[in-house]
Amino acid sequence: MSAFRYLQNLPMTGSLCPSSKRLAEAVYQVALRNRESATELVFAGIGSGVIARRFLHWDQSTIFVDIDRAFCADFALQVHRQEHRVVCGDIADILRAAPGSHGRIVISCLPLQGLYYSERVLTALLREVQQGAQVLFYSYVPLWRWTRFCRTLHAASVEARRERIIVRNLPPAFVYSLALRACVASSAGASNARPSAG
Ligand SMILES: C[S@@+](CC[C@H](N)C(=O)[O-])C[C@H]1O[C@@H](n2cnc3c(N)ncnc32)[C@H](O)[C@@H]1O
Repeated sequence: MSAFRYLQNLPMTGSLCPSSKRLAEAVYQVALRNRESATELVFAGIGSGVIARRFLHWDQSTIFVDIDRAFCADFALQVHRQEHRVVCGDIADILRAAPGSHGRIVISCLPLQGLYYSERVLTALLREVQQGAQVLFYSYVPLWRWTRFCRTLHAASVEARRERIIVRNLPPAFVYSLALRACVASSAGASNARPSAG
C-alpha cells in the first residue's frame, strides 16, 4: 500500500505516514508479555499493515479490524493462519457485539486523541478494560497533553500506563496499556472475596 494512499485517507488514518517497524516491535513485545494469560486478540486499525504484520504469527484466535475496505483487502492477502480473520467494520460496533473478558488482548492503532478523539470508540475500549481485557495503544504525544482523553479515562476509573517510548520513530511514539485504577481494582477484588451476607 502506498504512502500516498495512507496520506489520502488522513481523516481516518490520523497520521501522515505509516508506522515504523520499531514501533511495531515495541507494540508486539508489550502484547507478548500477556500472551500466557490470553486466549484471543483483537487488532484494531490495520492501516498500512506495518504493525498488524508483526502479529501474523500470533498463534491464537485473532481478528484484524479496519473501517477501510481497501486496507482490509490488502491485508487479507497476507493472512494465512486459520485462527485469523480480517473484518471490515467500526471497532466500536464490533466490540459492542462481542464484548471481551480476561482472555482478550485488544491492540488499538486507532487515532484516538486530539482532532480524532472519538468518545464512542474510547468508551468501547474502556468497556473492554472494565471487563478484564488487556488494552494497548500508542500515541505520538504524551497522554497528559490530551485533556479530554484523560478526563474520559478518569471518569471510567481507568489509567494509562506508559510501557515503552520509541524514540527512533517518526515522530517518537509512546506505547500505553490501560488498566483499572488500583483502588478500583482492589475494591472490586475485596468485594468479590467478601462472603455474601445472604
Ligand atoms: C493510524 S492508522 C493505523 C496505523 C497502522 N497500524 C500502521 O501500522 O501504520 C489508523 C487506522 O484505523 C482505522 N480506523 C479509524 N477509525 C476506525 C474505527 N472506528 N474502526 C476501525 N478502524 C478504524 C483507519 O482506517 C486506519 O487504517
